[in-house]
Amino acid sequence: MRVGVLTGGGDCPGLNAVIRAVVKSLVRQLGAEVIGIEQGFLGLIQRRVRPLDLRAVAGLIATGGTVLGTHNRADPFAYFGAGGADVSDGVIAYARELGLDALVVIGGDGSMDIAHRISLKGLPVVGCPKTIDNDLEHTDRCFGFDTAVAIVTDALDRLTTTGQSHGRVMILETMGRYAGWIALEAGLAGGADVILIPEIPYRLDKVIEVCREREQRQRFTVIALAEGATAEGGGLTVQERIETSPDPIRLGGVGNLLRHQLQPHLDCEVRTTILGHVQRGGAPTPFDRVLATRYGHAAAQLIQRGEFNRMVVLRGNEMASVPLAEVAGRNRHVPADHPLLQAARDTGVSLGV
Ligand code: F6P
Repeated sequence: MRVGVLTGGGDCPGLNAVIRAVVKSLVRQLGAEVIGIEQGFLGLIQRRVRPLDLRAVAGLIATGGTVLGTHNRADPFAYFGAGGADVSDGVIAYARELGLDALVVIGGDGSMDIAHRISLKGLPVVGCPKTIDNDLEHTDRCFGFDTAVAIVTDALDRLTTTGQSHGRVMILETMGRYAGWIALEAGLAGGADVILIPEIPYRLDKVIEVCREREQRQRFTVIALAEGATAEGGGLTVQERIETSPDPIRLGGVGNLLRHQLQPHLDCEVRTTILGHVQRGGAPTPFDRVLATRYGHAAAQLIQRGEFNRMVVLRGNEMASVPLAEVAGRNRHVPADHPLLQAARDTGVSLGV
């Protein structure tokens, strides 16, 4: 058996641990040959692959990034390198030339959408969910999320001590796209006074009220702010638009907007930190290393059982799988009745409403 593996979309801590688990499981359990495809679907379009044996994946569990490289614009159904043309037939032909019996796609919602359409063209695919945003439908936790939360929590801890020293309002803008999972979990872990997420548009007067009140008592305020958060009646803060990208909106800058909104109403200084890609880099946490290993192993098991065109998911603490058709292009948001929101409210954290 010969299996291809690729990592698509933005990178994420734990990708290498998944690759390692896929290769080790397939080689050891099935005697399979694994082919690494470089830079996501771009490697299938541009015909760039390399063998992945046990030696090639040794020591990968603790490393950040992806040894295969990735690309977040290489959609074979609308290839930017061919003026947006559909080159998917060429991709299928190349997969046949390589003798691939199956393809493991490790990626987010965009990659799963492509994986689904590739599978409809006859190449058996198994998907493995990846994103620090933790916003993929049907899976309770994506690998990489725990690492991002740990990095954001560390940043909040540090902003708290400097904010305390100067008596400032410290705003930390996190990633997460249109979902507030990173800001919510890290905000709670980092003891933020205010947590603002896209699912709950904030009222500026409420945020001012909290900062003013704290100005009198504690002198400082820490705000965890998701990049996709919006003020009530306001829109998303878009950093730039990349028209050639499947996800053309690049979010960023709401932290500066909030700073300008708050400053005229407060005596103390308001400062913003935008954490950016630091949240995606570096070594995965032990939790993510284990989760990534479970995902990679579960993907190999699906192949072993001949269950294709499915994505592995984590439900509670159990690995399961769902049809790719059910995940493609969908996102999971923080529901209004999520217990963490209640815990935040009940422990005095303002959600800006
Ligand atoms: O989806 C992961 C993510 O890191 C988002 O949180 C963020 O909005 C986006 O990717 C940034 O993407 P890029 O690296 O293309 O700027």
